[in-house]
Amino acid sequence: MIVPIIAIDGPSGVGKGTACGHLSTRLGFRLLDSGSLYRLVGLACEWDGVSLDDEVGCTAVAAALDASFEHAQGRLRVWMNAREVSAAIRTEKAGQDASKVAVIPGVRDALLDWQRHAAKWPGLVADGRDMGTVVFPDAGLKIFLDASTEERARRRHQQLLDGGQSVTLSAVLDEMRERDVRDRTREAAPLEAAQDAKVLDTSGLTLDAMLAKVDDWADQYL
Ligand code: C5P
Repeated sequence: MIVPIIAIDGPSGVGKGTACGHLSTRLGFRLLDSGSLYRLVGLACEWDGVSLDDEVGCTAVAAALDASFEHAQGRLRVWMNAREVSAAIRTEKAGQDASKVAVIPGVRDALLDWQRHAAKWPGLVADGRDMGTVVFPDAGLKIFLDASTEERARRRHQQLLDGGQSVTLSAVLDEMRERDVRDRTREAAPLEAAQDAKVLDTSGLTLDAMLAKVDDWADQYL
């Protein structure tokens, strides 16, 4: 029988992480946070002294990635080379570095197996940019979440403040615009909605309204 897969894509700060965490907890499904893999590759390149525009070097780092994940109480913990890097991969720099290595086709290919192996019983909720288009083109439910850049920057800014990081809203907005352009215009697996995705603009929605819509789609699918 086919493992049920719910693919949720969209730009950064749109609420994918919250929607995916909520759904995987409610349904008891596994959770794939594919962005963390790109963040790990960026960090591993820094540790190994590999420049982020060295395509061959970054691809080799991605192919040799030694990482493990644990989900506990709605929180993802991540280890690389036996060192916990849960906080280190969540900084704004780690997000920028991730989007730089994510333009390299070899890096994307090297991470495909990692991601596809996550599709196991009782089901998977996959969070990313190309879950519905490239990694799981046969996913039974594809959702694309979107929101204005300003709204996403406001949300991300609040998240960073809540997490104890001190940044200005304009710095977050600039960083988000830069990352959006890179993610949407790259040749390999650019950020876009799959043709058969259900698209939801969350700009004017409360968190509860967004989760209710996603729950509704998931219930129709399952
Ligand atoms: O989702 P997150 O912010 O952790 O992703 C970090 C970066 O990794 C994104 O800006 C994007 O460039 C890249 N990414 C990707 N494909 C995915 C997930 C993330 O290219 N499936």
